[in-house]
Amino acid sequence: MKIGRLDIGDKLLLAPMADVTDAPFRIIAKEHGAGLTFTQMVSAKGIITNEFYTLRKLVFSRSEKPIGVQLLGKDPEILYASVKELQRFNPDVIDLNCGCPVDKVTKYEMGSAIMDKPELLGKLVTSMVRGSEGIPVSVKIRLGRDRNSINVLDNAKIIEDNGASMLILHARARDDRYEVEAEWEWIAKVKEALKIPVIGNGSVFEPEDIIELISKTGCDSVMIARGALGNPFLFERYNSIKEGHNDRGLPDVSKVSRVCIKHLKLLNAEYGEFNSLDKIKKNVIWYFRNYYGISCLIEKILSLKSVDHIKELVELHTRKIENKEYPKENLEEISKKFNNKVVFWQTEEKELVS
Ligand SMILES: Cc1cc2nc3c(=O)[nH]c(=O)nc-3n(C[C@H](O)[C@H](O)[C@H](O)COP(=O)(O)O)c2cc1C
Repeated sequence: MKIGRLDIGDKLLLAPMADVTDAPFRIIAKEHGAGLTFTQMVSAKGIITNEFYTLRKLVFSRSEKPIGVQLLGKDPEILYASVKELQRFNPDVIDLNCGCPVDKVTKYEMGSAIMDKPELLGKLVTSMVRGSEGIPVSVKIRLGRDRNSINVLDNAKIIEDNGASMLILHARARDDRYEVEAEWEWIAKVKEALKIPVIGNGSVFEPEDIIELISKTGCDSVMIARGALGNPFLFERYNSIKEGHNDRGLPDVSKVSRVCIKHLKLLNAEYGEFNSLDKIKKNVIWYFRNYYGISCLIEKILSLKSVDHIKELVELHTRKIENKEYPKENLEEISKKFNNKVVFWQTEEKELVS
């Protein structure tokens, strides 16, 4: 698939996820076969004012390429200036967030609030394309404000007509909660209406979901969000199916443990021990959510205060799973709860640079 001048073949995309898709997460996803990853959303204004936390979220290393940067903004001039500024980082795609439904974003008329202002949306895309000098611009959008006011087809045309190179459709409305199923039919309608690549997103957790989404909608690729939490293996399972192999299924727990420990070390190196502890705990829990013993792991890990202790717990937990020491649990039920709860796990951040 070609996104402007970038070609990612038939690989999948890792979704931007606030407080989740930092460099360690992206590195692991790429190592396991993601074709394009995104930073979490960063404030366009924060970029041009050199705001520390904005730049902290934005930086990536050359080895992470291809990578997209996702911007949050509502002002054509500020977006233009921030995209110009971004050129020195040389990302492969610059995305505009038109999907975020949280109050601290929509109260500033950003994120999904932009879907209600088609004229402004057109201006924002034009400004970004003008400033990006050839770096492909994409837009990530939802269906509309609610299921009774779906305006995605109009917005999609505006996005294409103003020069974007790709559209990512999270097939839920702004007012939908995450447990509501995504409506993939809209991805098919948007794909049919546009010439630029359309990426499907929403309710994708298993390789068969990816295959079904592509075959039902004709979308050019799929963006994985919650399905990738503690599960970079989804990318390699899909890639292997594409190469003609049978689905490998979930990896054995020793592999999960190895990758989890690598992720934990990357987080420690990125943030230092004190600041990485909560992030490490969150990710470790995600890695083991599909294996018996998860309730016990959650109970134990929360009180730990050092990376070494967490690493020891992961090793012990892995051995116990291998020795089948844990009683059976309803993993499907637990997994569902995880998926619905995950958005509320984000740590409260300070106000956005609006
Ligand atoms: C923890 C979390 C953080 C998210 N942060 C962002 C974000 O910064 N930008 C964005 O466009 N979408 C964000 N999203 C939405 C996802 O990118 C994706 O569109 C959504 O989760 C639907 O896909 P899924 O049903 O496969 O999870 C976030 C989702 C989650 C769960």
